Amino acid sequence: MITSTDNDRAAASNADRVLIFDTTLRDGEQSPGASMTLEEKLEVADLLDALRVDIIEAGFPVASEGDFEAVLEISKRVRNATIAGLARAGAKDIDRCAEAVRGAARPRIHTFISTSPVHMKYKLQMAPERVLEMIASSVTRARNHVADVEWSAEDGTRTEHDFLCRCVETAIGAGATTINIPDTVGYATPEEYEALFRMVRARVPNSDKAIFSVHCHDDLGMAVANSLAGVRGGARQIECTINGVGERAGNAALEEVVMAMRTRADALPFHTQIDARLLTRASKLVSAVTSFPVPYNKAIVGRNAFAHESGIHQDGMLKNAHTYEIMTPESVGVAKTSLVMGKHSGRHAFKEKLKELGYELGENALQEAFKRFKDLADRKKLVYDEDLIALVDDEIVQRHDHIKVAALTVIAGTNGPQSAALTLDIDGEKKTHQATGNGPVDAIFNAIKALTPHEATLELFQVHAVTEGTDAQAEVSVRLCEDGKSVTGRGADPDTLVASARAYVAALNKLIAKRGKTKPEAMQAG
Ligand code: KIV
Ligand code: ZN
Repeated sequence: MITSTDNDRAAASNADRVLIFDTTLRDGEQSPGASMTLEEKLEVADLLDALRVDIIEAGFPVASEGDFEAVLEISKRVRNATIAGLARAGAKDIDRCAEAVRGAARPRIHTFISTSPVHMKYKLQMAPERVLEMIASSVTRARNHVADVEWSAEDGTRTEHDFLCRCVETAIGAGATTINIPDTVGYATPEEYEALFRMVRARVPNSDKAIFSVHCHDDLGMAVANSLAGVRGGARQIECTINGVGERAGNAALEEVVMAMRTRADALPFHTQIDARLLTRASKLVSAVTSFPVPYNKAIVGRNAFAHESGIHQDGMLKNAHTYEIMTPESVGVAKTSLVMGKHSGRHAFKEKLKELGYELGENALQEAFKRFKDLADRKKLVYDEDLIALVDDEIVQRHDHIKVAALTVIAGTNGPQSAALTLDIDGEKKTHQATGNGPVDAIFNAIKALTPHEATLELFQVHAVTEGTDAQAEVSVRLCEDGKSVTGRGADPDTLVASARAYVAALNKLIAKRGKTKPEAMQAG
């Protein structure tokens, strides 16, 4: 029998439920160099769904064919989360977005327009009254396509309060079901942001008809604090990204807002439905596909987040883990032991280990990954979880690439010039070139350029060791820029030079995908 107390409890717990709106694939992907291929976006979307985010913002359909296709495919594939597409206030944006999300089990159109004086005057060059008309017409148009419409006041935190209230009332009146007030430029303080939500909810007569949402950028390092403050002010949706990737300094990090509410439920009595045990896995996948390294000291998912180095801390931990640990590593998916695999580990053990790390690979991918694991185990005595994660992520990222590194021999040392003989597999055809350079990496990159002529410039070359020891795998990131657009590629191998070649080639593959062309001949233009 359901009692009124049960009902009260359910209502209270619903009132405290915060929806998680992940925008890694939209705001995150807008971050310079973070672009992902379609296959990578699908991989991330699957994991976000498994993580149980409520809404996945899959892209900005009108922005490019690639974005449209990604939103379309993710809509067809994801069965649990709501799929949102972003649209400006114009009819073309909204209709294109509707077309992209139509196949979703739960489609959402997220439409926005700037409302601050500086944006309206200089960016939109529109009078406030015209902006109000645009809000009404865009939300109405979106509602004619779908029942779930989110409206955002871009630069909301720098918008005059009276005008913001009129905008919100107009959007809700036209049928918006979620109202987002973003801190677009990362300017707000937590106190101001909380008060803003309280003010809007109190003053707008129809505010009870919509869910309020926060969307915070991290320009002053306050995105997470601001998001939580907004929730205290009455918002019940947080827009955030894995690892905090996003425009400029990024967005609020999903793993941080979720774990803050879980760990400090006493101070933040709100809950989400996120399966936190997948947070580490999600962080690693997003780092792999964007090639943005996670800082060692990053909260929740950084390599050192649960490491206790000093003697005093280690002593305390041995006596009682609560001395220095406010949440367990297992609760966010850090495996208890970094169990070592070796060259005698079989296919079954390998598959089980991957499962434990959160990977379910198809037969072909598993076969390829196992081959690379055996090769690694032959060269490296101890294979740690981190090694396997780097290896499998590499495999996932490169599975659909047109260009692959097939063989590499390098001559390096004190007597130059250093040279590299490189064989690339280009759509199944092997091509070899020998090049010299100012050092072995330069020689390798020259060989790649000779085999795939292109005008992209190298913006970043970065190496870090996956584990400790001189036989550790190297993880290399390479950022290339073409026509003002940057892409980043990543490669891992115990040989730093092979990892460098893989990273450069991974970035090239992304450039090809970004141009919307599928053939490597595309590289030969210009
Ligand atoms: O930061 C921002 O204002 C945005 C909107 C489009 C929601 O990303
Ligand atoms: Zn944003």
